[in-house]
Amino acid sequence: MSDSAAAALLEGEATTPAPAHLLVRQLTKSFGSNPVLRGIDLEIGRGEVAVIIGGSGAGKTTLLKVLIGLVPATSGSILIGGQDVVSARPRLKRQLQKKFGMVFQYSALLDSMTVGDNVGFPLVEHTKLSRKEIAERVTEKLALLDLHGVERLYPSELSGGMRKRVGLARALMLDPEVLMYDEPTSGLDPLSSRLVDELIVDTRDRFGVTSLIISHDMAGALKIADRIFLLHRGQLAVQGTPRELTRMTGTLANDFFTASGIDAERVVASRKR
Ligand SMILES: Nc1ncnc2c1ncn2[C@@H]1O[C@H](COP(=O)(O)OP(=O)(O)O)[C@@H](O)[C@H]1O
Ligand SMILES: [Mg+2]
Repeated sequence: MSDSAAAALLEGEATTPAPAHLLVRQLTKSFGSNPVLRGIDLEIGRGEVAVIIGGSGAGKTTLLKVLIGLVPATSGSILIGGQDVVSARPRLKRQLQKKFGMVFQYSALLDSMTVGDNVGFPLVEHTKLSRKEIAERVTEKLALLDLHGVERLYPSELSGGMRKRVGLARALMLDPEVLMYDEPTSGLDPLSSRLVDELIVDTRDRFGVTSLIISHDMAGALKIADRIFLLHRGQLAVQGTPRELTRMTGTLANDFFTASGIDAERVVASRKR
């Protein structure tokens, strides 16, 4: 070790900062001549809960779809654990993309399939496990989310809250490192929304996943986020911790707080951590 490195250690300085778990650099996506994502920079630490807010049509769903590989990026990079998904060769790309899981808006369960088949679907698609092994893993995951004996039911036979947990179980099937949620509270009443917020934080705590949540629920974002990003016209316009955001004045974030009719400072003050 060099003298300067030793001195830095003695002074408690980190010589190399811990790399971000998810690092997005200058990511763009155009549909034809329509530039939807116009240079996204995003850095999220391992186990963090990041919330992206933004108006409809801002490109939020597109961002998640590009991250999980449902839609190819036009340019830029997506590094997970330091490896770039965008420039990776097909085999490595598929491996890296499996590190992302997604809970779709309204859970997006297939009504014609049983709960068990819905949850087991990622294993059928991505593994060579037998039917029996898949059924066992499905039951295990469902039990972790406090769902018992629902495998043979159809999604329409479940309550909204149960469907959310089934959608979450499916997203967790391949043990993702980064779990993304597209507007998980949309269409839910305020009480159910708070339960989903708790489920997101609980899932992070139990499974150690890095979480990326798309939301237009400002109160929920201020309550659960470690960091909030505001997406505006395909770019991340404002970012900060909930506390930092409420203290900023004259930014788009304030317009969002005002428009949602919440007392942002009070919500932040009520946070447990
Ligand atoms: N597959 C697609 N083909 C063409 N345009 C698309 C496609 N998906 C999304 N878009 C366009 O991208 C823009 C952003 O859409 P989206 O990401 O769904 O926004 P948000 O989720 O923020 O409401 C919209 O203008 C939409 O029309
Ligand atoms: Mg959307």
